[in-house]
Amino acid sequence: MDLDPRSLSTEQRYKIMNGLVVPRPVAFVSTQDPSGALNIAPFSFFNVASVDPMVLVICPLTRPDGTEKDTLRNARPEAEGGLGEFVVNAAVERYLEQMSAAAEDLPHGESEFALTGLTPAPSQVVRPPRLAESPLAFECRTLDVRPLAKGRPMSGTLILGEVVHVYLEDGLTDDALRVKHDAYDVLGRMGGLTYCRTTDLFDFPRGRAALTTPRPFPKK
Ligand SMILES: Cc1cc2nc3c(=O)[nH]c(=O)nc-3n(C[C@H](O)[C@H](O)[C@H](O)COP(=O)(O)O)c2cc1C
Repeated sequence: MDLDPRSLSTEQRYKIMNGLVVPRPVAFVSTQDPSGALNIAPFSFFNVASVDPMVLVICPLTRPDGTEKDTLRNARPEAEGGLGEFVVNAAVERYLEQMSAAAEDLPHGESEFALTGLTPAPSQVVRPPRLAESPLAFECRTLDVRPLAKGRPMSGTLILGEVVHVYLEDGLTDDALRVKHDAYDVLGRMGGLTYCRTTDLFDFPRGRAALTTPRPFPKK
């Protein structure tokens, strides 16, 4: 099948983008509005954008009614009505239920912390709290907000955040900062309501050596 994006409905585009670019990590993003109201919501349009400087990117979609999600409003620079700061927490198995519940579309100012019973903990550098239950938190200062089609329903807005502080739970890495995978029960998003667990890991070399290394599982 060949598809021309121009002939696809918004729903079809969503199915393709959300269902095929997988598995995706999930940023569980805590923010605060200028009046102090707390917010936390999951975003799987999320990735690393740069190592030096350390920059993360999250992409809230404009709601079907054309309005902005609270995370975007709150992460906007102060001159644009936000706080210019946000915290990326991990999406891990231990609070799967609460992470998914936090995707509830609450009215602006109503907190998903209250809805889910999750606990805000003070951040070190930025004003929005980190999630106390999260094994990691990247405190971010908003570098840039870049709408891809301002106001269009289901269009994305890139929020680039420079990491200004990192919190890591004891035991998540060894002393050399190598992640202990068995201690990090991180989830992946597969689109729709489907997730994957990171319980089936394997090591494999890269470069030429990959061509002569037997795979550690049978070929399909
Ligand atoms: C696992 C998961 C991943 C999500 N990823 C995104 C995303 O990348 N972009 C987006 O706009 N919404 C995403 N959502 C939906 C938002 O979490 C939802 O719209 C939420 O209400 C936004 O909250 P806010 O208005 O407080 O920012 C996701 C939901 C779930 C459960």
